[in-house]
Amino acid sequence: MIQTLEWTDSGVRFIDQTKLPTEETYILCKTHQQVADVIRNMVVRGAPAIGVAAAMGIALGVKNSKASTVGELKAEVDEISDVLGKTRPTAVNLFWAIARMRDRFESLRIRPVPEIKQALIEEARRMHAEDIRANQAIGRHGAGLMPASGGVLTHCNAGALATCGYGTALGVIRAAIEQGKKIHVYADETRPFLQGSRLTAWELMKDGIPTTVISDNMAGAIMKQGKIGAIVVGADRIARNGDVANKIGTYTVAVLAHEHAIPFYVAAPFSTIDLATSDGDQIPIEQRGASEVTHIAGKQMVPDGVQVENPAFDVTPAKYVTAIITERGIARAPYEESLRKLAEELSAMTSP
Ligand code: MRU
Repeated sequence: MIQTLEWTDSGVRFIDQTKLPTEETYILCKTHQQVADVIRNMVVRGAPAIGVAAAMGIALGVKNSKASTVGELKAEVDEISDVLGKTRPTAVNLFWAIARMRDRFESLRIRPVPEIKQALIEEARRMHAEDIRANQAIGRHGAGLMPASGGVLTHCNAGALATCGYGTALGVIRAAIEQGKKIHVYADETRPFLQGSRLTAWELMKDGIPTTVISDNMAGAIMKQGKIGAIVVGADRIARNGDVANKIGTYTVAVLAHEHAIPFYVAAPFSTIDLATSDGDQIPIEQRGASEVTHIAGKQMVPDGVQVENPAFDVTPAKYVTAIITERGIARAPYEESLRKLAEELSAMTSP
């Protein structure tokens, strides 16, 4: 099983996703600042994975703290949360995870400092385990939506590497294959960071799942040839109305899917659903450095001085989304209603 990130006695260990697919190496973070760096530099990426990474970053910071009073520890938790919260703006899982760790801290304030530290470590580890279970549930709910055989297209990497294991979109594909469906995955290359060709293809090949990598601009032609029976992608943030922020290029794929009457599914845990955000226009879109566009593997691909844009995500309007597959079940339009209903069921189950 791929260990995307893992709590160990000596720190938080990450598979270095910037080195895949040619090198499988690991980075051990011993401080929360190092965790912030690996999130920012995309050693770890994918919304659920960066959420749990941030939670483990807080656990690590608290573990390293010299605070002797709860008040001192609280000041450190504030500072650590701030550092981690400034790493990447779009994936709401990051802020969800920080808020959950802060809530846990608040619930422990009357306890002695060593006990609080231990409980926060346990909370981060619990979030790791819960994420895998959520992905398996997403897979169970979504598998029935996949075709019995044929091509399924995905964009970016919403797999084991983007989560704590199994994946969201790739979890749906894995579960469908486990049910005996004969799926062939088409993985969009996903320029500029190449999560599709480097990461999705790597993890699917490891599992022996038939995979074809295409460059992003081939998707329309492949759909027109009738090779794609369904599309499934992940999400970084889903607004209350069902608009979906995901890796740049997802919007293009959704519009193409609509043109070819191919179902377009989004698979995501509830930690990705942001009911506080009304629609996609309110979602902050991360702008990354120009070098991701101007260079490939260190080689310059554009003339000196040309202007470059590099938005890391786009927003797919809810009208193009056939269904949203969550660990609680499947939501369909109108999303404001269906997502609220699933959220209410979730809080009814978790409230004491
Ligand atoms: O920039 P990244 O690689 O963090 O973007 C990842 C994506 O857009 C994924 O599709 C999304 O986070 C869902 S991962 C289960």
